[in-house]
Amino acid sequence: METLQGKTALITGSASGMGKKTAMRMAERGAKVVINDIVPEKVEQTVAEFKARGFEVMGRVADICNASAVSEMVQAAVDTFGSLDILVNNAGMEKAGALRNLSEKDWDVTVNVNLKGAFLCSQAVHGHMVGKGWGRIINIASRAWLGGPGQAPYASAKAGLVGLTRTLALELGRKGVTVNCIAPGLIHTPMWDELPEKNRTAFLEKQPMGKIGEDDDIANTILFFANEEASFITGQVFYVCGGRSLFAG
Ligand SMILES: NC(=O)c1ccc[n+]([C@@H]2O[C@H](COP(=O)([O-])OP(=O)(O)OC[C@H]3O[C@@H](n4cnc5c(N)ncnc54)[C@H](O)[C@@H]3O)[C@@H](O)[C@H]2O)c1
Repeated sequence: METLQGKTALITGSASGMGKKTAMRMAERGAKVVINDIVPEKVEQTVAEFKARGFEVMGRVADICNASAVSEMVQAAVDTFGSLDILVNNAGMEKAGALRNLSEKDWDVTVNVNLKGAFLCSQAVHGHMVGKGWGRIINIASRAWLGGPGQAPYASAKAGLVGLTRTLALELGRKGVTVNCIAPGLIHTPMWDELPEKNRTAFLEKQPMGKIGEDDDIANTILFFANEEASFITGQVFYVCGGRSLFAG
């Protein structure tokens, strides 16, 4: 795989899960990385881990739903590293429930973090990318954008992220910036390990490959889109879900 030497990457929500794994893989390929999250202790711990491995890293506690916090974070990254070339809109969360049980607050927080946050971060970084004539915006949606019972806010936000991806790809294509979207299926997280055996079995029965994915399956795909090799790919939704997107329900 090619090097990311000379590139700076901002990965939102990168103090845990697949965001952290992606930041690590990018740093291993020579990128300078900005770790962002809303949980200060997690940012501190992640930055310490990266520094211990000798990587160029900065941490920034910022809520991606807050426009001024986002623009300060992006400016700090550019001031520290000189450029911002890759943005991974990874931070996400879900308030799930049947339509009758969901509150307005559930809707707002889910749509804000998964969709508005990606809009604000893209808006804040795109000028730096356009100025250099090179950039990568990679949005982490979900297979759930296709629709999932109990997932009205999340599926709607992730579907919105697909629309944002396609629109920004059209707007930024001639400026050297590609914008793509990855739609993960079930990925191994601590939450998965905590599920009762019968629930895990029920989920696995619906997996065409009979297994769920790992953080590295997503990180590797993000790396592919960040690379020069993917320079003629934009506006696409790429499923990393072991074939689960092939049928509904
Ligand atoms: N895990 C899965 O099975 C799965 C499947 C499909 C899609 N996804 C998507 O992948 C992405 C990463 O998922 P994960 O499982 O690694 O999640 P995770 O919970 O491990 O990591 C997400 C991080 O985002 C941070 N975050 C939340 N709100 C934020 C905000 N307002 N500002 C900044 N940071 C914030 C959290 O603190 C957390 O550290 C998410 O967008 C999620 O919707 C996950």
